Amino acid sequence: MSFEKKILCIGAGYVGGPTMAMIAFQCPQYRVTVVDINAERIAAWNSDELPIYEPGLDEIVKAARGRNLFFSTDIQRGIRENDIIFVSVNTPTKTFGHGAGMASDLQYLEKTARQILEYSESSKIVIEKSTLPVRTALAMERILNCRKNGIRFDILSNPEFLAEGTAIRDLNQPDRVLIGSQETESGRKARQTLMDIYANWVPKEKIITSNIWSSELSKLVANAFLAQRISSINAISAFCEKAEADVTEVSRAVGMDSRIGPRFLNASIGFGGSCFKKDILNLVYLCRHYGLNEVADYWESVVKMNDYQQERFVRTMLGAMFNTLAGKTICLWGFAFKADTDDTRESPAIFIAKRLMEEQAEVVISDPKALKNARIDLAGFEDRVRYVEDPVQAAEGCHAIAILTEWDLYRNLDFNKIFEGMVKPAFIFDGRNILDHRRCFDIGFNVYPIGKPPLTHF
Ligand code: UDX
Ligand code: UDX
Repeated sequence: MSFEKKILCIGAGYVGGPTMAMIAFQCPQYRVTVVDINAERIAAWNSDELPIYEPGLDEIVKAARGRNLFFSTDIQRGIRENDIIFVSVNTPTKTFGHGAGMASDLQYLEKTARQILEYSESSKIVIEKSTLPVRTALAMERILNCRKNGIRFDILSNPEFLAEGTAIRDLNQPDRVLIGSQETESGRKARQTLMDIYANWVPKEKIITSNIWSSELSKLVANAFLAQRISSINAISAFCEKAEADVTEVSRAVGMDSRIGPRFLNASIGFGGSCFKKDILNLVYLCRHYGLNEVADYWESVVKMNDYQQERFVRTMLGAMFNTLAGKTICLWGFAFKADTDDTRESPAIFIAKRLMEEQAEVVISDPKALKNARIDLAGFEDRVRYVEDPVQAAEGCHAIAILTEWDLYRNLDFNKIFEGMVKPAFIFDGRNILDHRRCFDIGFNVYPIGKPPLTHF
């Protein structure tokens, strides 16, 4: 069968995998190949157990795999045989040298650009899917177009706005698709090619275009704004706890202002995930680079507030439990950075678990999907951590439960039974405000929500 377009994606992670699965699912007339240097990951994409958990992903992968969706480790062949190449390799925060802890580590991206240059035998459209510092496309363009052998590369920026846990819905019905391009004749042509792909299922008015730098920056700014809302409400949650106000009531009242809107105003133990912190630090780094120190400080405070909220949660536990956690057993419900994913990257649970162990507590971790990743994150702490998938069993014999991920299953457990099995006085620290606090209190728990007065029996 001959396909209308041949599409490649380099990087089969949380972004590349689901995004390509959606394109292949929606467009049987295109052939979509996903390649990755990680052979184990590719084997998993080709098996019944996909390497990432994402609701609805299994169904679309199964529908398209082998038909027009293929997973492979053969990067060289992939580059040679495809004309449209998405780049979705990871761009973590640099851990070394200049800009360590702030700037993006672009080594994988540059290596990928060089591979594309080396193996290409014809002109290509190269699409930045990874979130990148502003003006990275320029560097990519320079590397790719450094040889004058008649092969041309057009670079587009097409940031991905999907959120984990709702990736399939976000891909199927995106708020918008953003395509940044150069305003040259071939830039416009490349842009049209990509618009045509999305137009297979996305309404035309939702596909917007911009210059390439605006597109790169928009992704950083969208994440910075979302994270800023969370830090804002978390800052207010600290205030509510002092003022005996209720942060849920405040956020409802504030969010009903149509200029503000209700979403992303849930107070929590802080935001996690691979993007928010990395992207803000990247923005901060770029601002400092351009001498915009006040702007950099402003955005950096969003991350500082997030760190504060996590530490504050541990301090609340410590204060409530008579200023010592040494020798006590704390059960953590949830380790993923949010519900409906197995992803634990930058999860506040990692920080909280380590801090509790620093206070010499024993920790029991429960999560319906993320225990495999939790074990990797907490490697080296095996003597102080146990992993128990069932939340009721996990709480048995513990002094406290801390809810770190808002999994639905925690809402309707048998709290009478849980209470009976715990050491008294028993505590619940609801870091996501998902339980019926009054009910838990009536059963006998001392309940500490976020941003609300605690309900205690003493
Ligand atoms: C990543 C970035 O974190 C995000 O900023 C960006 O928007 C998209 O890419 P994600 O898909 O969640 O997001 O990352 P990850 O799950 O780590 O996937 C990246 C994949 O690229 C990995 O499977 C890795 O093996 C692969 N990779 C990395 C390559 O194939 N080649 C490389 O040179 C480097
Ligand atoms: C985010 C962006 O939403 C997405 O557009 C971008 O492409 C990638 O980064 P993601 O990190 O997958 O997506 O999840 P998101 O739903 O944004 O949640 C991020 C963190 O914020 C989670 O830890 C979540 O629990 C937390 N959060 C979210 C809150 O604490 N309160 C809220 O009200 C919303």
